[in-house]
Amino acid sequence: MDLQTRKIFIIDDEEPLRKVLNTHLTKEGYGVTGSAGGAEVFDIMRSGSFDLVICDIKMPEVDGARILEFVRTNHETTPIVMLTGFTDIGVAIEIMKKGAFDYLMKPVRKDDLMTTIRRALVHRDLLVRNKELELENREYQLFLEQKVHERTKELNAKAIELERTYGLLKDTNIQFINALAETIEAKDPYTRGHCNRMRVLSVELGRAAGLNAEELDILEYAALLHDLGKISVNEGVLNKQGALNDDESRHMMRHAEVGEKILLDGMPGMETVARIVGAHHENFDGTGYPKSLKGGEIPVGARIISVVDIFDAMTSDRPYRKGIPTADVIKEMRQVSGTQLDPEMVNLFIERELHRLIHDAA
Ligand SMILES: [Fe+2]
Repeated sequence: MDLQTRKIFIIDDEEPLRKVLNTHLTKEGYGVTGSAGGAEVFDIMRSGSFDLVICDIKMPEVDGARILEFVRTNHETTPIVMLTGFTDIGVAIEIMKKGAFDYLMKPVRKDDLMTTIRRALVHRDLLVRNKELELENREYQLFLEQKVHERTKELNAKAIELERTYGLLKDTNIQFINALAETIEAKDPYTRGHCNRMRVLSVELGRAAGLNAEELDILEYAALLHDLGKISVNEGVLNKQGALNDDESRHMMRHAEVGEKILLDGMPGMETVARIVGAHHENFDGTGYPKSLKGGEIPVGARIISVVDIFDAMTSDRPYRKGIPTADVIKEMRQVSGTQLDPEMVNLFIERELHRLIHDAA
C-alpha cells in the first residue's frame, strides 16, 4: 500500500456484502479495512485514520446513527456514506441531516458506489485543505499579533527613554533660567530670594486657579524671569533709597518692556513667557504699564505674578524698612483688589493661605 492509497473503512454486519465491496474497492486501488460492527468499530477508528467510512444503518449491536455521530464528532474531515435497504428511506433522509455525506441503496451498484466514493474523497480533500488554510491563517494571525506586541514594547521603551530625556532637558532648562534669575537678583541684593519665592508662590496660585501642566511650566519661567529687564536699569536708580523722580521712574518702568524684548529676540519658543513678563506691571483696572491693558486682556500669568509680587515686596525686609506683617499686607491686597490686582487671584491667594508657603520658598 503506497502513501497515496486512500483508506476506506467498511462497516456492515452482512459478510457477503463486505466481501463484494472489498473486492471492488481493492481492485480500484483503495486500501480497505472491514468490520462487522459492534464496539470494535470505535477502537479501529481511534487507532487508525481513514479517508472515508462506508457504514450500514441497521446493525444488531451498534447502529449506524451512533457511528455517524462518532465520526462527525471525532473525525471532522472524514466523510461517511451510509448504506440502507429500500424500506429505510425515511431513516436515510434523517441521517443526511445529521451530517452523512450521502447514502447508497442496497443492493449497491458498482458504478454508483465508485462515483459516490470519488465525490466523497474530493469533498474530503477540500475539507482538509480548508482546515489547513484555517490553521495557516490562525498561525499568521498569531505571528502578526506577536509582531504588534513586540513593536508596541519597543515603542513603549522608546517613549520612556524620550520622557526621561525630556525630563533631563527640562531640569537643565529650569536650572539655566534660575541662574539667569539669580544674576538679575544680584543687581538688587535687597531682594534676595525674591525670584525663588515668586516661582513657588506663583506656581501654587496658578495651580489653585486651574492652570494645566504646560501653563504652569510657562508660569514658572515667567515668575523667575519677570524682572529680567532690570538688567538694563541703572544701579543708582535700582538701589536708590527713597522716592524716584519722574525720569528715574520712567527709566525703571522700562524694565517690563525690556524683559519682554530680550526674551522675544533672544529665546525662541519663549513667546508666551515674554508676553507675561511684559505685562507683569499692568493693573486690573487698566491703570498699569506699559500698555494699560485691562482685566482679561492681561495674560492670566501676569495677573498671578502681580499678586505674588506685591505680597512678596511688601512682606520682605528692606535696608530702610522692616517687612510689613502678613496680616497688614493681606489687608492692603484686599484694598487694591479689583483696581491694581485681579480680585479672583487675590481671593484664591488669601483663601488657600498661600502666604504660609513663603518660609519654605525663601
Ligand atoms: Fe517688576
